[in-house]
Amino acid sequence: THQWRGIIEEYRDRLPVSDTTPVVTLREGGTPLVPAQVLSERTGCEVHLKVEGANPTGSFKDRGMTMAISKAKEDGAKAVICASTGNTSASAAAYAVRAGMVSAVLVPQGKIALGKMGQALVHGAKILQVDGNFDDCLTLARNLSDNYPVALVNSVNPVRIEGQKTAAFEIVDMLGDAPDIHVLPVGNAGNITAYWKGYQEYAADGVAAGTPRMWGFQASGSAPIVRGEIVKDPSTIATAIRIGNPASWQYALRARDDSGGLIDEVTDREILRAYRLLAAQEGVFVEPASAASVAGLLKAAEQGRVDPGQRIVCTVTGNGLKDPDWAVAGAPQPVTVPVDAASAAQRLGLA
Ligand code: F0G
Repeated sequence: THQWRGIIEEYRDRLPVSDTTPVVTLREGGTPLVPAQVLSERTGCEVHLKVEGANPTGSFKDRGMTMAISKAKEDGAKAVICASTGNTSASAAAYAVRAGMVSAVLVPQGKIALGKMGQALVHGAKILQVDGNFDDCLTLARNLSDNYPVALVNSVNPVRIEGQKTAAFEIVDMLGDAPDIHVLPVGNAGNITAYWKGYQEYAADGVAAGTPRMWGFQASGSAPIVRGEIVKDPSTIATAIRIGNPASWQYALRARDDSGGLIDEVTDREILRAYRLLAAQEGVFVEPASAASVAGLLKAAEQGRVDPGQRIVCTVTGNGLKDPDWAVAGAPQPVTVPVDAASAAQRLGLA
Protein backbone atom coordinates (compact mmCIF):
# COMPACT_ATOMS: atom_id res chain seq x y z
CA THR A 1 0.00 0.00 0.00
CA HIS A 2 3.02 2.29 0.30
CA GLN A 3 4.43 2.64 -3.17
CA TRP A 4 6.51 5.58 -4.33
CA ARG A 5 4.08 8.22 -5.59
CA GLY A 6 6.15 9.80 -8.36
CA ILE A 7 8.40 12.85 -8.15
CA ILE A 8 5.66 15.49 -8.05
CA GLU A 9 3.97 14.06 -4.95
CA GLU A 10 7.25 13.12 -3.28
CA TYR A 11 8.81 16.57 -3.78
CA ARG A 12 5.71 18.74 -4.21
CA ASP A 13 6.97 21.58 -2.00
CA ARG A 14 10.11 21.93 -4.14
CA LEU A 15 8.38 21.98 -7.53
CA PRO A 16 6.36 24.67 -9.35
CA VAL A 17 2.96 22.96 -8.95
CA SER A 18 -0.18 24.01 -7.12
CA ASP A 19 -3.14 22.14 -5.66
CA THR A 20 -4.97 22.54 -8.96
CA THR A 21 -2.17 21.24 -11.20
CA PRO A 22 -3.33 17.93 -12.71
CA VAL A 23 -0.61 15.41 -11.86
CA VAL A 24 0.21 13.22 -14.85
CA THR A 25 2.46 10.48 -13.53
CA LEU A 26 3.70 6.95 -14.12
CA ARG A 27 5.30 6.93 -10.61
CA GLU A 28 8.69 7.94 -12.00
CA GLY A 29 11.74 8.49 -9.79
CA GLY A 30 12.60 6.61 -6.62
CA THR A 31 15.26 4.83 -8.67
CA PRO A 32 17.94 2.56 -7.16
CA LEU A 33 21.22 3.98 -5.90
CA VAL A 34 23.44 0.93 -6.33
CA PRO A 35 26.88 0.56 -4.72
CA ALA A 36 29.38 -0.22 -7.49
CA GLN A 37 31.88 -2.73 -6.15
CA VAL A 38 34.26 -3.00 -9.09
CA LEU A 39 34.30 0.73 -9.79
CA SER A 40 34.94 1.41 -6.11
CA GLU A 41 37.90 -0.98 -6.13
CA ARG A 42 39.33 0.51 -9.31
CA THR A 43 39.12 4.09 -8.09
CA GLY A 44 39.74 3.63 -4.37
CA CYS A 45 36.53 5.57 -3.83
CA GLU A 46 32.97 4.83 -2.72
CA VAL A 47 31.16 4.75 -6.07
CA HIS A 48 27.40 4.52 -6.49
CA LEU A 49 25.29 4.21 -9.63
CA LYS A 50 22.02 6.14 -9.90
CA VAL A 51 20.14 3.72 -12.14
CA GLU A 52 17.78 5.91 -14.13
CA GLY A 53 16.96 3.11 -16.56
CA ALA A 54 14.61 1.89 -13.81
CA ASN A 55 12.18 4.71 -14.59
CA PRO A 56 8.82 3.77 -16.19
CA THR A 57 9.90 4.37 -19.80
CA GLY A 58 13.49 3.37 -19.12
CA SER A 59 15.27 6.72 -18.82
CA PHE A 60 15.65 9.80 -16.61
CA LYS A 61 13.48 11.76 -19.03
CA ASP A 62 10.38 10.65 -17.11
CA ARG A 63 11.28 12.97 -14.22
CA GLY A 64 11.11 16.00 -16.47
CA MET A 65 8.21 14.69 -18.51
CA THR A 66 5.81 14.26 -15.58
CA MET A 67 6.34 17.98 -14.92
CA ALA A 68 6.20 19.10 -18.56
CA ILE A 69 3.04 17.17 -19.37
CA SER A 70 1.31 18.08 -16.10
CA LYS A 71 1.98 21.78 -16.72
CA ALA A 72 0.97 21.51 -20.38
CA LYS A 73 -2.32 19.95 -19.26
CA GLU A 74 -2.82 22.66 -16.66
CA ASP A 75 -2.33 25.22 -19.45
CA GLY A 76 -4.96 23.50 -21.58
CA ALA A 77 -2.63 22.08 -24.23
CA LYS A 78 -4.08 19.39 -26.47
CA ALA A 79 -0.82 18.44 -28.18
CA VAL A 80 2.87 18.33 -27.29
CA ILE A 81 5.97 18.20 -29.46
CA CYS A 82 9.64 17.38 -28.92
CA ALA A 83 12.87 16.84 -30.78
CA SER A 84 14.66 13.75 -29.60
CA THR A 85 17.49 11.30 -29.96
CA GLY A 86 14.93 8.76 -28.74
CA ASN A 87 14.41 8.81 -24.98
CA THR A 88 12.60 12.12 -24.72
CA SER A 89 10.24 11.03 -27.49
CA ALA A 90 9.54 7.69 -25.76
CA SER A 91 8.77 9.49 -22.53
CA ALA A 92 6.68 12.26 -24.12
CA ALA A 93 4.65 9.64 -26.01
CA ALA A 94 3.89 7.66 -22.84
CA TYR A 95 2.99 10.66 -20.67
CA ALA A 96 0.87 12.16 -23.45
CA VAL A 97 -1.17 8.93 -23.41
CA ARG A 98 -1.73 9.36 -19.66
CA ALA A 99 -2.82 12.96 -20.21
CA GLY A 100 -5.10 12.21 -23.16
CA MET A 101 -2.98 14.38 -25.43
CA VAL A 102 -1.56 13.97 -28.89
CA SER A 103 2.23 13.74 -29.09
CA ALA A 104 4.39 14.63 -32.06
CA VAL A 105 8.06 13.69 -32.14
CA LEU A 106 10.87 14.74 -34.43
CA VAL A 107 13.82 12.35 -34.62
CA PRO A 108 16.98 12.32 -36.72
CA GLN A 109 16.50 9.90 -39.58
CA GLY A 110 18.23 6.56 -38.98
CA LYS A 111 19.93 7.70 -35.78
CA ILE A 112 17.69 6.49 -32.98
CA ALA A 113 17.82 3.10 -31.28
CA LEU A 114 15.14 0.60 -32.26
CA GLY A 115 13.73 0.19 -28.74
CA LYS A 116 13.08 3.92 -28.47
CA MET A 117 11.39 4.06 -31.87
CA GLY A 118 9.25 1.10 -30.79
CA GLN A 119 8.16 2.96 -27.67
CA ALA A 120 7.09 6.08 -29.57
CA LEU A 121 5.20 3.91 -32.06
CA VAL A 122 3.40 1.74 -29.53
CA HIS A 123 2.34 4.78 -27.49
CA GLY A 124 0.82 6.24 -30.63
CA ALA A 125 3.06 9.25 -31.21
CA LYS A 126 3.03 11.02 -34.54
CA ILE A 127 6.59 10.49 -35.67
CA LEU A 128 8.51 12.49 -38.25
CA GLN A 129 12.00 11.35 -39.18
CA VAL A 130 13.87 14.51 -40.03
CA ASP A 131 16.49 14.60 -42.74
CA GLY A 132 19.00 16.17 -40.35
CA ASN A 133 20.55 15.70 -36.91
CA PHE A 134 19.13 16.32 -33.41
CA ASP A 135 20.06 20.01 -33.53
CA ASP A 136 18.01 20.40 -36.72
CA CYS A 137 15.10 18.57 -35.07
CA LEU A 138 15.19 20.97 -32.10
CA THR A 139 15.22 24.02 -34.37
CA LEU A 140 12.19 22.63 -36.18
CA ALA A 141 10.35 21.75 -32.95
CA ARG A 142 10.89 25.27 -31.57
CA ASN A 143 9.62 26.77 -34.78
CA LEU A 144 6.49 24.61 -34.75
CA SER A 145 5.68 25.36 -31.09
CA ASP A 146 6.17 29.10 -31.73
CA ASN A 147 3.76 29.11 -34.66
CA TYR A 148 1.25 26.31 -34.11
CA PRO A 149 -0.96 25.13 -31.21
CA VAL A 150 1.49 22.62 -29.74
CA ALA A 151 3.50 22.76 -26.47
CA LEU A 152 7.27 22.14 -26.54
CA VAL A 153 8.43 19.55 -23.99
CA ASN A 154 12.16 19.58 -24.65
CA SER A 155 14.46 20.57 -21.77
CA VAL A 156 14.49 24.16 -23.06
CA ASN A 157 11.13 24.09 -21.27
CA PRO A 158 12.25 25.06 -17.73
CA VAL A 159 9.78 22.76 -15.95
CA ARG A 160 11.65 19.79 -17.44
CA ILE A 161 14.74 20.90 -15.50
CA GLU A 162 12.61 21.28 -12.36
CA GLY A 163 11.49 17.67 -12.61
CA GLN A 164 14.94 16.31 -13.37
CA LYS A 165 16.53 18.07 -10.38
CA THR A 166 14.70 15.60 -8.10
CA ALA A 167 17.34 12.96 -8.88
CA ALA A 168 19.83 15.05 -6.89
CA PHE A 169 17.34 15.25 -4.01
CA GLU A 170 16.96 11.47 -3.96
CA ILE A 171 20.72 10.97 -3.84
CA VAL A 172 21.15 13.34 -0.88
CA ASP A 173 18.13 11.79 0.84
CA MET A 174 19.73 8.34 0.46
CA LEU A 175 23.33 9.19 1.33
CA GLY A 176 22.52 11.72 4.04
CA ASP A 177 24.64 14.34 2.29
CA ALA A 178 25.81 15.36 -1.18
CA PRO A 179 28.54 13.20 -2.74
CA ASP A 180 31.99 14.70 -3.38
CA ILE A 181 31.71 14.23 -7.14
CA HIS A 182 28.72 13.67 -9.40
CA VAL A 183 29.43 12.25 -12.86
CA LEU A 184 27.04 12.19 -15.80
CA PRO A 185 26.87 12.02 -19.59
CA VAL A 186 26.23 15.29 -21.41
CA GLY A 187 24.24 15.68 -24.62
CA ASN A 188 21.86 18.61 -24.77
CA ALA A 189 23.15 19.49 -21.25
CA GLY A 190 19.74 19.66 -19.57
CA ASN A 191 20.48 16.96 -17.04
CA ILE A 192 23.76 18.39 -15.70
CA THR A 193 21.90 21.71 -15.38
CA ALA A 194 19.10 20.01 -13.47
CA TYR A 195 21.31 18.07 -11.04
CA TRP A 196 23.32 21.19 -10.28
CA LYS A 197 20.11 23.09 -9.54
CA GLY A 198 18.88 20.31 -7.25
CA TYR A 199 22.16 20.08 -5.33
CA GLN A 200 22.32 23.85 -4.94
CA GLU A 201 18.76 24.04 -3.61
CA TYR A 202 19.39 21.34 -1.01
CA ALA A 203 22.63 23.04 0.08
CA ALA A 204 20.95 26.45 0.29
CA ASP A 205 18.26 24.99 2.55
CA GLY A 206 20.77 23.13 4.69
CA VAL A 207 19.50 19.68 3.70
CA ALA A 208 23.03 18.96 2.44
CA ALA A 209 26.22 20.43 3.91
CA GLY A 210 27.62 21.24 0.47
CA THR A 211 27.50 20.53 -3.23
CA PRO A 212 29.46 18.03 -5.32
CA ARG A 213 31.86 18.82 -8.11
CA MET A 214 29.96 18.21 -11.35
CA TRP A 215 31.80 16.08 -13.91
CA GLY A 216 30.21 15.85 -17.35
CA PHE A 217 31.37 13.71 -20.26
CA GLN A 218 30.56 14.12 -23.93
CA ALA A 219 31.34 11.60 -26.69
CA SER A 220 34.50 12.65 -28.56
CA GLY A 221 32.73 12.95 -31.92
CA SER A 222 30.02 15.11 -30.32
CA ALA A 223 31.92 17.26 -27.85
CA PRO A 224 31.06 20.91 -28.60
CA ILE A 225 31.41 22.05 -24.98
CA VAL A 226 34.87 20.49 -24.68
CA ARG A 227 35.94 22.00 -28.02
CA GLY A 228 34.32 25.35 -27.32
CA GLU A 229 32.55 25.35 -30.69
CA ILE A 230 29.49 23.92 -32.38
CA VAL A 231 30.05 20.51 -33.98
CA LYS A 232 28.26 20.63 -37.35
CA ASP A 233 28.14 16.90 -38.03
CA PRO A 234 28.25 15.15 -34.65
CA SER A 235 29.02 11.45 -34.58
CA THR A 236 29.15 8.70 -31.94
CA ILE A 237 27.75 5.22 -31.41
CA ALA A 238 26.04 6.68 -28.32
CA THR A 239 23.15 8.05 -30.37
CA ALA A 240 21.39 9.52 -27.32
CA ILE A 241 24.16 12.13 -26.95
CA ARG A 242 24.88 12.71 -30.64
CA ILE A 243 24.37 16.47 -30.30
CA GLY A 244 26.49 19.26 -31.75
CA ASN A 245 24.90 22.39 -30.30
CA PRO A 246 23.50 21.75 -26.80
CA ALA A 247 20.58 23.95 -25.78
CA SER A 248 21.78 24.26 -22.16
CA TRP A 249 25.43 24.85 -23.09
CA GLN A 250 25.81 27.98 -20.93
CA TYR A 251 24.15 26.34 -17.92
CA ALA A 252 26.51 23.38 -18.24
CA LEU A 253 29.50 25.73 -18.15
CA ARG A 254 28.08 27.37 -15.05
CA ALA A 255 27.56 23.99 -13.36
CA ARG A 256 31.14 23.07 -14.20
CA ASP A 257 32.68 26.34 -13.05
CA ASP A 258 30.56 27.05 -9.99
CA SER A 259 31.04 23.49 -8.71
CA GLY A 260 34.78 23.33 -9.43
CA GLY A 261 34.06 20.49 -11.84
CA LEU A 262 34.99 19.55 -15.37
CA ILE A 263 33.53 18.68 -18.76
CA ASP A 264 35.65 16.30 -20.79
CA GLU A 265 35.24 13.77 -23.55
CA VAL A 266 35.38 9.99 -23.90
CA THR A 267 35.87 8.01 -27.11
CA ASP A 268 33.36 5.48 -28.40
CA ARG A 269 35.87 2.78 -27.52
CA GLU A 270 36.02 4.00 -23.90
CA ILE A 271 32.21 4.19 -23.80
CA LEU A 272 31.85 0.60 -25.00
CA ARG A 273 34.46 -0.63 -22.53
CA ALA A 274 32.53 0.97 -19.66
CA TYR A 275 29.25 -0.36 -21.11
CA ARG A 276 30.60 -3.92 -21.01
CA LEU A 277 32.16 -3.49 -17.57
CA LEU A 278 28.87 -2.25 -16.10
CA ALA A 279 26.96 -5.21 -17.50
CA ALA A 280 29.55 -7.96 -16.96
CA GLN A 281 30.96 -6.84 -13.61
CA GLU A 282 28.35 -4.69 -11.88
CA GLY A 283 25.22 -6.42 -13.21
CA VAL A 284 23.80 -3.15 -14.50
CA PHE A 285 22.71 -3.03 -18.16
CA VAL A 286 22.68 0.49 -19.55
CA GLU A 287 22.54 2.01 -23.00
CA PRO A 288 25.84 3.19 -24.51
CA ALA A 289 25.30 6.92 -23.82
CA SER A 290 24.76 6.15 -20.15
CA ALA A 291 28.14 4.47 -19.94
CA ALA A 292 29.84 7.78 -20.82
CA SER A 293 29.68 8.80 -17.15
CA VAL A 294 31.47 5.64 -16.01
CA ALA A 295 33.91 5.81 -18.94
CA GLY A 296 34.75 9.34 -17.84
CA LEU A 297 35.30 8.32 -14.24
CA LEU A 298 37.60 5.45 -15.28
CA LYS A 299 39.53 7.73 -17.62
CA ALA A 300 39.98 10.36 -14.91
CA ALA A 301 41.10 7.67 -12.43
CA GLU A 302 43.64 6.32 -14.91
CA GLN A 303 44.96 9.86 -15.37
CA GLY A 304 45.41 10.13 -11.59
CA ARG A 305 42.75 12.83 -11.31
CA VAL A 306 40.60 10.98 -8.74
CA ASP A 307 41.80 11.24 -5.14
CA PRO A 308 40.96 8.07 -3.21
CA GLY A 309 38.40 7.99 -0.45
CA GLN A 310 35.81 10.20 -2.10
CA ARG A 311 32.14 9.49 -2.43
CA ILE A 312 31.16 9.51 -6.11
CA VAL A 313 27.80 9.06 -7.81
CA CYS A 314 27.58 8.21 -11.52
CA THR A 315 24.21 8.63 -13.17
CA VAL A 316 23.50 5.90 -15.69
CA THR A 317 20.75 7.55 -17.66
CA GLY A 318 18.99 4.87 -19.73
CA ASN A 319 18.15 1.16 -19.82
CA GLY A 320 20.28 -1.21 -21.90
CA LEU A 321 17.18 -2.76 -23.45
CA LYS A 322 16.65 0.44 -25.42
CA ASP A 323 19.55 -0.36 -27.71
CA PRO A 324 20.44 -4.06 -27.39
CA ASP A 325 22.36 -4.22 -30.69
CA TRP A 326 25.53 -3.29 -28.82
CA ALA A 327 25.09 -6.15 -26.36
CA VAL A 328 24.81 -8.68 -29.17
CA ALA A 329 27.48 -7.20 -31.44
CA GLY A 330 30.79 -8.98 -31.04
CA ALA A 331 29.43 -11.46 -28.49
CA PRO A 332 29.74 -15.18 -29.26
CA GLN A 333 26.66 -16.87 -30.73
CA PRO A 334 24.92 -19.17 -28.22
CA VAL A 335 25.37 -22.84 -29.17
CA THR A 336 22.37 -25.04 -29.95
CA VAL A 337 21.98 -28.36 -28.11
CA PRO A 338 19.50 -31.24 -28.27
CA VAL A 339 17.14 -31.89 -25.33
CA ASP A 340 19.81 -33.94 -23.59
CA ALA A 341 21.25 -33.32 -20.12
CA ALA A 342 24.60 -34.97 -20.82
CA SER A 343 25.40 -32.81 -23.84
CA ALA A 344 24.00 -29.65 -22.17
CA ALA A 345 26.16 -30.33 -19.10
CA GLN A 346 29.18 -30.90 -21.28
CA ARG A 347 28.61 -27.63 -23.18
CA LEU A 348 28.20 -25.76 -19.90
CA GLY A 349 31.45 -27.16 -18.59
CA LEU A 350 29.64 -28.91 -15.75
CA ALA A 351 30.73 -32.42 -16.72
N1 F0G B 1 21.77 9.75 -21.61
C1 F0G B 1 20.67 9.39 -22.30
C2 F0G B 1 20.27 7.96 -22.27
C3 F0G B 1 19.93 10.35 -23.02
O1 F0G B 1 18.86 9.98 -23.69
C4 F0G B 1 20.37 11.69 -23.01
C5 F0G B 1 19.64 12.71 -23.76
C6 F0G B 1 21.51 12.01 -22.26
C7 F0G B 1 22.18 11.02 -21.58
C8 F0G B 1 22.04 13.39 -22.18
O2 F0G B 1 21.25 14.20 -21.37
O3 F0G B 1 20.69 15.92 -23.06
O4 F0G B 1 20.26 16.30 -20.65
O5 F0G B 1 22.58 16.27 -21.52
N2 F0G B 1 18.71 12.45 -24.57
C9 F0G B 1 17.86 13.45 -25.24
C10 F0G B 1 16.71 12.77 -25.94
C11 F0G B 1 18.63 14.39 -26.08
O6 F0G B 1 16.19 13.30 -26.93
O7 F0G B 1 16.27 11.72 -25.49
P1 F0G B 1 21.19 15.78 -21.66
